[in-house]
Amino acid sequence: MGKVILRARGIFKNYRAGNRMVSALKQMDLEIEEGLFYAVVGRSGSGKTTLLQVLSTQEEVDGGDIWLDGEAYGTISASRRALLRRKKIGVVFQEYRLMAELTVYENIVLPSLLDGREIDGEYIGKVMNLLEIEQLKDAYPHQLSGGELQRTAIARAMANRPRIIFADEPTGQLDETSAFQVMRLLRESSALFGQTVVMVTHNKQLAQYADKVLVLDEGTLVGGIGDD
Ligand SMILES: Nc1ncnc2c1ncn2[C@@H]1O[C@H](COP(=O)(O)OP(=O)(O)OP(=O)(O)O)[C@@H](O)[C@H]1O
Ligand SMILES: [Mg+2]
Repeated sequence: MGKVILRARGIFKNYRAGNRMVSALKQMDLEIEEGLFYAVVGRSGSGKTTLLQVLSTQEEVDGGDIWLDGEAYGTISASRRALLRRKKIGVVFQEYRLMAELTVYENIVLPSLLDGREIDGEYIGKVMNLLEIEQLKDAYPHQLSGGELQRTAIARAMANRPRIIFADEPTGQLDETSAFQVMRLLRESSALFGQTVVMVTHNKQLAQYADKVLVLDEGTLVGGIGDD
C-alpha cells in the first residue's frame, strides 16, 4: 500500500427525516492512498454524497474521526473545517456552480483571490491548458458547453493546488462523449500534479478508469475493487 493521505475511523452520520432517523453512514473505516484516482459507486441512497461531504469537510460527522495529511477533522468547528478545505481540498459539483457574471479565468482564480493568495499565473495557465480551456479564458459561462463548464469548475478546484479533489457525479449532466473527456482530463491533470481524486459516479464504464473503486451499500463500505 502506498502512502495514506486520508484516513477515516468509525465515522457515522445520521439524518432526521421527519420522525425517522436515517443512518447515512454507519461506522465506516476508510483509507485513501496518495496520488490515486478513486471511484465511489453504489445504489441511490447508499451514502455516496454523504461520504463525500464529510470527507471534504462540507459536513460534520456525528462521530468518528478523519485525518487528511495527518490533520484531524470531522468534529471540529465549521470555520476550522473551512480553513482546512481552502488549504488542502478541491471540490467539484455536479451542477458546476460557476458565477454567471464572471469569465472563465475569473471564476478559476476567484477563490484564491478571496483567500488573499497570490495567483500563480504559470500554474493556472498549465491547468487551463491541460483541461483544454485556455482559449475560453475570457468567455462567460452561458457561452460554454456542459463539458467546458465542468472543465472550468475542475480548474477552479485545482487552482489552490489541493492535495485531494472530491467530485460528486461531476459528469452527471454530460453526454457520454464529454463525460469521458472530462474524466480523462481530470485524471491526467490531477496525476500530473500528484493530486488524489475521489469521484462519485453512477457510470460503471467511468468507474473502470479509476485505480480503485469503493462500493457503498446502505451506509457501509462493502468492497474496494483494486485493493491489495
Ligand atoms: N439532508 C438530509 N436529510 C435527511 N436525509 C438525508 C439528507 N441527506 C441524505 N439523506 C439520506 O441519507 C441517505 C444517504 O443519502 P446520500 O445522498 O448520501 O446517497 P447517495 O448515495 O449520494 O444517493 P444518490 O446516488 O441518489 O445521489 C439516504 O437515505 C438519504 O435519503
Ligand atoms: Mg448523491
